[in-house]
Amino acid sequence: MLGLACAACLGRRGGLRAYSALTSNLAPFTNPSEKERNSAVTLVRGEGVHVWDDQGNKYLDGLAGLWSNALGNGNERVIGAAHAQLKKLAYQHTFWNRTTDIAEEYTRRLVDFASHRGVVQTFMSCGGSDANDTNVKLAWYYWNAVGQPSRKTVIARHGAYHGVTITASSMSGLDSIHKGYGPLPLPWVRHVSTPHYWRNGLPGETEEEYSSRLAKELEDLILREGPETIAAFIAEPVMGAGGVIPPPKGYFQKIQPILQKYDILFILDEVITAFGRLGERFGSDFFDIQPDLYTVAKAMSSSYYPLGAALITERVADAIKDQANKFGVFGHGYTYGGHPVACAIGLECLNIYEETSIWDHVKLMTPTFQLTLKQLETHPLVGEVRGEGFMLAIEFVSDKATKAPLGTSVPPATILANECMKNGLLVRSTGNVVVLAPSLVFTMENFQELFSKLKASFDSFDQIVYKELPDLPRE
Ligand SMILES: Cc1ncc(COP(=O)(O)O)c(C=O)c1O
Repeated sequence: MLGLACAACLGRRGGLRAYSALTSNLAPFTNPSEKERNSAVTLVRGEGVHVWDDQGNKYLDGLAGLWSNALGNGNERVIGAAHAQLKKLAYQHTFWNRTTDIAEEYTRRLVDFASHRGVVQTFMSCGGSDANDTNVKLAWYYWNAVGQPSRKTVIARHGAYHGVTITASSMSGLDSIHKGYGPLPLPWVRHVSTPHYWRNGLPGETEEEYSSRLAKELEDLILREGPETIAAFIAEPVMGAGGVIPPPKGYFQKIQPILQKYDILFILDEVITAFGRLGERFGSDFFDIQPDLYTVAKAMSSSYYPLGAALITERVADAIKDQANKFGVFGHGYTYGGHPVACAIGLECLNIYEETSIWDHVKLMTPTFQLTLKQLETHPLVGEVRGEGFMLAIEFVSDKATKAPLGTSVPPATILANECMKNGLLVRSTGNVVVLAPSLVFTMENFQELFSKLKASFDSFDQIVYKELPDLPRE
């Protein structure tokens, strides 16, 4: 027995050695086999909107990390705030009616900042997924509190991305995050169509008509399921990871009355859009949306620290208070929710955003970004360039009329993203779609650099793609 155990042990150690070389970290949204073959690009330093890898290569970050590093790297005020807080009080929690001065100050400021949206309370998390989880729990808690415990179903949208916890990945409408996980998505989630007019609008259908069709789809689903079973509807103002899909004209204006008619809570996932990315404080300001619960993260701390929150409006807050009172406690909380250092960073970011009106800068620069890149639609293999504010996508097609995807052996957006990287520009590929979402502090000079690097990358993209598929259209 002893001998056998030792052999198994040795075997495991052998395995461990093999894994430790390049794949000691099971990396998110990465093929582990690819990481074994090609060592990961390793970034070691950042200054403003540029980062450097361990080989000394410099990149312009066209995606602000993960749509999140709003101020770029090296902001001395944010670093100073973090340092001061680490020295003063590195950690205490906010459980059991104990709290910290910084958590109280920051959450009060956050509520003030969002008060024009009807927000009266925050619940602090460490990022977007757990804040979305929280919002679903709050919706269930709410319906139980007001005597409608049958309301459990959440309606989300195909193509949505809400994160990767079990709840968030269930609500996300992307196959890639469900595949291989057996019970995902969980049975209390339903998905309605991706609101993408260019791809899914019918011949002759206007954008408004398309929005009406989607609203009807939502209403039909609610009636099929029974309104008394629906807890909430969740949506991003502009779909992000699903390929930057702004809503068609009138979409939220047609969806909201239906939610109101059947008294369904609306969770607005503003993880990407809050704090200025669309040129307004919130995506809900931009599209005039009135949800009951908001999810925020990312730019909240400019990603200098993990931070997120559920923002709660009065209707929900009141019910939570009553319900928790029945149990004597509100039974929910994360060790790192309201972390002092995260709050100090979040507070300083908010100070900077407000002092500089960062959303006005985004609004000012948006035409430069959007209209310049819109011209790429003249490229024979680009079907659509779309976006709002500092979010933009370029979708490749092999045929502009049929919108058929471009079937290169390596996905076309990955070819372009690889060429961008060689030219010192970081962008994101989602297969057929290239995504850009620069830091909110991007200047005209930064945009000029982005445009010229993108142009050089398109030149080599053309060479690679036409070499592989010479019959593709050339004009
Ligand atoms: C709209 C949206 N919601 C939620 C999330 C999940 O956030 P996190 O990765 O911080 O958990 C993301 C992340 O990209 C997101 O884009």
